[in-house]
Amino acid sequence: MRRDGALVLEDVPLAVVAERYGTPCYVYSRAALTHAWCELDALLAAHPHQICYAVKANSNLAVLGVLAALGSGFDIVSVGELERALRAGADPKRVVFAGVGKRHDELERALEVGVGCFNVESEPELERLDEVARAHGRRAPVALRINPDVDARTHPYIATGLASNKFGIPVSAADAAYRRASDCAGLEVTGIACHIGSQLLDVQPFADALARVLELVDRLASAGMRLEHIDMGGGLGIRYRDETPPTAADYARALLTGMSGRGERLLLEPGRSIVGNAGLLLTRVEYLKQGEDRSFLICDAAMNDLIRPALYSAWQDILEVAPIPGAPARRVEVVGPVCETGDFLGRERQLSAGPGELLAIASAGAYGFVMASNYNSRPRAAEVMVDGDAMHLVRERESLADLMRGERLLPGACGSATPVGSISL
Ligand code: LLP
Repeated sequence: MRRDGALVLEDVPLAVVAERYGTPCYVYSRAALTHAWCELDALLAAHPHQICYAVKANSNLAVLGVLAALGSGFDIVSVGELERALRAGADPKRVVFAGVGKRHDELERALEVGVGCFNVESEPELERLDEVARAHGRRAPVALRINPDVDARTHPYIATGLASNKFGIPVSAADAAYRRASDCAGLEVTGIACHIGSQLLDVQPFADALARVLELVDRLASAGMRLEHIDMGGGLGIRYRDETPPTAADYARALLTGMSGRGERLLLEPGRSIVGNAGLLLTRVEYLKQGEDRSFLICDAAMNDLIRPALYSAWQDILEVAPIPGAPARRVEVVGPVCETGDFLGRERQLSAGPGELLAIASAGAYGFVMASNYNSRPRAAEVMVDGDAMHLVRERESLADLMRGERLLPGACGSATPVGSISL
């Protein structure tokens, strides 16, 4: 939103955030986050359900804390995400543990804290979990993640429900896997899970996947295996440019229609649709470089801060924070300082901004900071959450000391006597 021409998030001008915390900086809106979660929760009210926010989309403790306070559950894929969720106040019973490669120690810790369900992705994982649970005298609650072989019609790197993907157990092998699981003394089969991909722009694949899952659930019931819950994963797309994703209402309707008259609880694992449009990346233009056939706006954010444009050719809107009235727009490539030709944030944009001015890269709340790296030895950005007219630093910018934390010179090598802690940015 703009006020007097300048961008504000809730009631905080972005220029003030940049001035206080520097750039590059991720900025999230508590109100937007809360609205997205509560809207979906209310739309599902007619059926027993639990939203388990996908921590991978944005795992900042403040984000998790806001959602935990609303009563959200969490979908986690590592012990790191588990510890974050717990630290943010999550109820472990509302945590589902997904992922194809859960390690022994991760299973142990999740059992110890009592997560609500393990979404198991293969028979070897089933066996490992059974073993770990028995060794601890426990029964692990289990759902099998089924791969329904449905085309999510999304970017191939984020489609997960096709038979050719590494995810889940094929429907054809599911009956046998359920029989196997129900024979394991360390396992208590409670549900079924499925996730077909991310950034879906159509409800039909969700409806198709649910229909396939329900067919299997009914077959299992007639063989005496009754499930308590159905976890349909995440995947609802958001608008980055001119996409027309289903609304939360369309999505909820499609799922509730499929579930109508049934007793199983519905679990969902949305990530992007909760946080994607609740955040942006603030960056300052360092240089305008006039090339022979194109101009480059070189910013202080780069592919290490936001990799989606480089990795998926993703398009995210780039807005001028405080455009100078009347300044003519020119066609520019918006790039970062990283030494890679693929280091772009936006291509062929019409912008008037010049050196020193601020840009906001929109829709960066999901899969933004969480995918950041230290490539080119760039400290990771700060994260800020605005709440009405207040702003809170929810992650400090990394320092140069952070960058080298844990590294060692070889014995006998002469490093600089300057303690890195004394260098500041
Ligand atoms: N559940 C499971 C098992 C998942 O694998 C994912 C995402 C989600 C839930 C959440 O999906 P969402 O509601 O956010 O679509 N880095 C990529 C997206 C990768 C998604 C991976 N799995 C991107 O930037 O587009």
